[in-house]
Amino acid sequence: MASLTIRKLDEAIKAALRVRAAQHGRSVEDEVRGILREAAAAPVALGPANISSGHNSSGKTEAESQVTLIIGGGIAAYKSLDLIRRLKERGFVVRCVLTNAAQQFVTPLAASALANTRAYTGLFDPASEFDVGHIRLARDCDLIVVAPATADLMAKMAGGHADDLATAILLATDRPVLLAPAMNPLMWSNAATRRNVAQLVRDGVTLVGPDAGEMAEAGESGVGRMAEPVEIAEAVLGMLRPAGPRPLAGRRVLITAGPTHEPIDPVRYIANRSSGKQGFAIAAAARAAGAEVVLVSGPVGLPDPPGVAVKRVESAREMLAAVEAALPADVAIFAAAVADWRVASEGDQKIKKAAGALPRLELVENPDILATVARLADARPPLVIGFAAETEHLIDHARAKLARKRCDWIVANDVSPAGGVMGGDRNTVHVIRKDGDEVRVDSWPAMAKDEVATALVARIAEAVHARQGT
Ligand SMILES: Cc1cc2nc3c(=O)[nH]c(=O)nc-3n(C[C@H](O)[C@H](O)[C@H](O)COP(=O)(O)O)c2cc1C
Repeated sequence: MASLTIRKLDEAIKAALRVRAAQHGRSVEDEVRGILREAAAAPVALGPANISSGHNSSGKTEAESQVTLIIGGGIAAYKSLDLIRRLKERGFVVRCVLTNAAQQFVTPLAASALANTRAYTGLFDPASEFDVGHIRLARDCDLIVVAPATADLMAKMAGGHADDLATAILLATDRPVLLAPAMNPLMWSNAATRRNVAQLVRDGVTLVGPDAGEMAEAGESGVGRMAEPVEIAEAVLGMLRPAGPRPLAGRRVLITAGPTHEPIDPVRYIANRSSGKQGFAIAAAARAAGAEVVLVSGPVGLPDPPGVAVKRVESAREMLAAVEAALPADVAIFAAAVADWRVASEGDQKIKKAAGALPRLELVENPDILATVARLADARPPLVIGFAAETEHLIDHARAKLARKRCDWIVANDVSPAGGVMGGDRNTVHVIRKDGDEVRVDSWPAMAKDEVATALVARIAEAVHARQGT
């Protein structure tokens, strides 16, 4: 009998197993044992009909699905070579198109060797255009990925240009398009790029990233890094997977995310290290589950999740006002790291440094958004969930918070610097729930934040339906 090592499984399978395990509140090993037990108990009929088809939305198996990967002329083009591998690992056939500028960064030879298919570069190439090859590349695929999507390429797309192979394909396609923008933060925040991105989103393209972080240029950082190849490949999978169940269809979900900035004077503020990633991931998962989602976010460098109404605020008081304006909701999830205090009187002018005299900052408490909403008489959402970020006595503090705030669930996470949760991509959470007079603690394994989000939304959907007996 062959032995099975979970560690050696494909990353995508491991991720799916972690989510299933968390949903069932058991370890990954127990989940695998359960799956094997069920499989062994099922009647076996040998033959092709018994083989799972793995069909995607286009009716093909992933192994048959084609992705046209357009590589733009940015420094992140080298990561697109890794993206080819990641897409192939997931069973896609990849055909690459390199713009002229892209060929300054990577070669068609490298792209075609990794993809095991021919790489395309020219619109007026007799070898591929004898049968109007750009139309084939635009249509004989299930999805087009542009990575890196440079500022220039997006400007051309927004303007409907078709003066090279990449833009001609993008204009001639009726397939879904996924852009992975990558550029210097100033290019990304430039008004022209903002206009072009807004236009492209209106035109129906999907964006993955850009992420915040260090740039290739020495000493530069900010929003503009291309999403990691694995993230892009997962986004491709998500777009081609058949639409899943929509257990939150018809429900309104309110989520807060990110830190708050509490002004000291016009240039200084009190803040914390929250990145907003977990709250944004929950918003995206709730949307994928069919909910109408309102996301109230403090200052973060994350793009709006597609299909989510995002209200950006700065301070705790603005966040409370935006939350109150967004009610009523069926579920409210307070994942924001709201500053506990603000300065009593914010300076109108920049506080000047004076020799030998330190300014005294008097602090006052900020409104408690979770407790305020959980105590509302009429507009209290039926399910109110708070987050507890602790650096010690995690479960005890979270249990106390559940009672004190009068919410229904607390999602507790350990934010000690050693764990790398704040700003990182992974999280280990404990879901603490009131169950009648009992308090139940479900401890989930460490997972990517979007996996935590998917598992949490699945639990929320179960709870919403259980309350209504549906
Ligand atoms: C070293 C170098 C790095 C560059 N990196 C980027 C980048 O990351 N993002 C971007 O939008 N443009 C970048 N550019 C500018 C693009 O190469 C230029 O706008 C080009 O016309 C884009 O071509 P495309 O439309 O084929 O992508 C870079 C240019 C150089 C010389």
